[in-house]
Amino acid sequence: MTYNPSPDRYTTMQYNRCGNSGLLLPAVSLGLWHNFGSVDDFNNAEEIIHTAFDSGITHFDLANNYGPGPGSAEENFGKILNKGMSRHRDELIISTKAGYLMWDGPYGDGGSRKYLLASLDQSLKRMGLNYVDIFYSHRPDPDTPMEETMAALDSAVKQGKILYAGISNYSAEQTANAARILRSLGTPCLIHQPRYSMLDRWVEEGLLDRLEKEGIGCIAFSPLAQGLLTNKYLHKIPADSRAANPFGFLQKSAITPHLIKKLRNLDQLAGSRGQSLAQLALEWVLNEPRVTSVLIGARNTNQLKDSLKCLEGPGFTEKEVSTIEKILGPH
Ligand SMILES: NC(=O)c1ccc[n+]([C@@H]2O[C@H](COP(=O)([O-])OP(=O)(O)OC[C@H]3O[C@@H](n4cnc5c(N)ncnc54)[C@H](OP(=O)(O)O)[C@@H]3O)[C@@H](O)[C@H]2O)c1
Repeated sequence: MTYNPSPDRYTTMQYNRCGNSGLLLPAVSLGLWHNFGSVDDFNNAEEIIHTAFDSGITHFDLANNYGPGPGSAEENFGKILNKGMSRHRDELIISTKAGYLMWDGPYGDGGSRKYLLASLDQSLKRMGLNYVDIFYSHRPDPDTPMEETMAALDSAVKQGKILYAGISNYSAEQTANAARILRSLGTPCLIHQPRYSMLDRWVEEGLLDRLEKEGIGCIAFSPLAQGLLTNKYLHKIPADSRAANPFGFLQKSAITPHLIKKLRNLDQLAGSRGQSLAQLALEWVLNEPRVTSVLIGARNTNQLKDSLKCLEGPGFTEKEVSTIEKILGPH
């Protein structure tokens, strides 16, 4: 059946300006790192994407290697687009990335011009697109001159294969360098994609100041710390969780008694505000004015709907901000 998006899709989402650019991004964006690969249930993946778009999520974030298998999230997303969503292409901001290992041999990893441009062509083919809106250097490559990586992004813009250039996982200093090089080429750096959550606050040590200074937007990935900042792990490790997967990035060993105590205190505070812990954690990240969007993941539509309610949050009193600081402790 052809997908027809909800006519109400633009009534509740908030859209934030991305740095100094002309582009608005939804306050909540959806990432396809997990749950969209060839090993996952396609119908569930499609349902999540449709629910997201119906809720005003216009931004979908991918990378060449998302799956598993690598590339299969892009393939599945391409299939979903082709089943009725591509009519809405001009309402969508689709991003992809290259930077981590994607194929064998010396040209399938890192930050070389050879890798980035070949990978971009492969991503476009997998998704059946003529262009992506944002293309990221997924990580800084110490073995490739920054000038080469940034020139590859600039070439992709000039070839019309991407609309905007982005960087991910770059330090404040590397960001300043990348922004300067891109500016000199006439392609401003649109956006930085760092990890940022209540449990991982490295961006507060200089990166956010740098982004503000450069007029670069910030989309915070893993704002729920891969699910830790939800009610999932308060009492046990459920079978349907990332931590239960022995090959995942979130290991059981991360869930220490010390962490569980913090999570329970945060959950209690969330409850007193009429929120779930996930909603509290997302609203807290969005409360940082330099954050353009929180880039969430979801295993199913229930999680997505729960997380989206962060937009209805009550805001934070000074007392609540300091209570959260006390619970989180030194960072
Ligand atoms: N640039 C980079 O290097 C980089 C790295 C990582 C991620 N990213 C991007 O960021 C996106 C999001 O990352 P992430 O998936 O780690 O984000 P996240 O939002 O921190 O974690 C998502 C996970 O949290 C759990 N969850 C989500 N909503 C929930 C809810 N309301 N209640 C209970 N549990 C909930 C689910 O875990 P379970 O599956 O356990 O149920 C879900 O898979 C990725 O898809 C990708 O686009 C980028």
